Amino acid sequence: MYTLTNSHGVEVRVMNYGGIILSIRVPDRNGQLADIVLGHETLEGYIPNPPYLGAIVGRYANRIANGSFTLDGKTYTLPKNDGPNTLHGGLDRAFNKVVWDAEPLKDKTGVTFSYLSKDGEEGFPGNLKVKVTYTLTDANALVLDYEATTDKATPINVSQHSYFNLAGEGNGDILNHEVMLNADRFTPVDKNLIPTGELRPVKGTPLDFTASTRVGARIDDNYDQLTLAHGYDHNWIINRKADDKGLVLAARVYEPTTGRVLEVSTTQPAVQFYTGNFLDGTVTGKQGHVYKRRYGLCLETQHYPDSPNHPDFPTTILKPGETFRSKTVFKFSTK
Ligand code: GLA
Repeated sequence: MYTLTNSHGVEVRVMNYGGIILSIRVPDRNGQLADIVLGHETLEGYIPNPPYLGAIVGRYANRIANGSFTLDGKTYTLPKNDGPNTLHGGLDRAFNKVVWDAEPLKDKTGVTFSYLSKDGEEGFPGNLKVKVTYTLTDANALVLDYEATTDKATPINVSQHSYFNLAGEGNGDILNHEVMLNADRFTPVDKNLIPTGELRPVKGTPLDFTASTRVGARIDDNYDQLTLAHGYDHNWIINRKADDKGLVLAARVYEPTTGRVLEVSTTQPAVQFYTGNFLDGTVTGKQGHVYKRRYGLCLETQHYPDSPNHPDFPTTILKPGETFRSKTVFKFSTK
């Protein structure tokens, strides 16, 4: 376990099992610190970890339809762990379930986790060397740098699955959080939560978060996409200029009682905004807190789900000789 601290009393704890973020302690508008991510107090609590609390997810975050894709004329079969789909990289050796090598940064502000995902592991081709570096800055930003190389072409989509509750973990649901998503379009899904291929404008739908809106305001509206996903569990396409590969603001979350603000910036093309619809009170986390439906929200910066089966989506294929890089920043402040 590694503890990152800065001069403002912000503290982030991470561990080499699953690259999991164990806790993030940040001040509210009165300087009161609280832990704002769902999780457990012991390693055992994370084995297993069905909601993926705090974990790095991969080799392919989100869903691959029918546990199958074709690459360079060859069809690959993956373990199915979500009805007919492969979710978050598969079963036993998905990135959230393996022990990563860890190397603290020299200046102690961060740690790099590395993992070699072997050729054929969870059905994916190629020995994939993947690295995730967590850095805590003095500007209260937790920076995530991802890097990967491979010796055979493979799909890759790595993300972070922390559940935030800016009022403090275990402190009720997130329906009063106000969310802004910098996205004019999303990828509608079918009944298995697989993108249909359509890129639908959010305008006029309950998925329009272009202006900051209370999560609970429309979450149970009678709208096909909300009914299918039991709330928000969709991939929003982040607004960016065609040739812009830099960091852009993807999301801003504000919790009115504490004043805590989370801003998420990323180089990734999209973000899965998930409102913890599948939390059902069966997981008891820190301090005996029971995590009920919608007690946390995730902002999983990523590529579009099921991209390997959608040639018209931005490609997720990494080839030998190339280096995959992405960056996501979680910035904490108050208002
Ligand atoms: C992602 C998915 C959700 C759910 C969670 C884990 O956010 O999109 O549907 O599977 O992971 O519970």
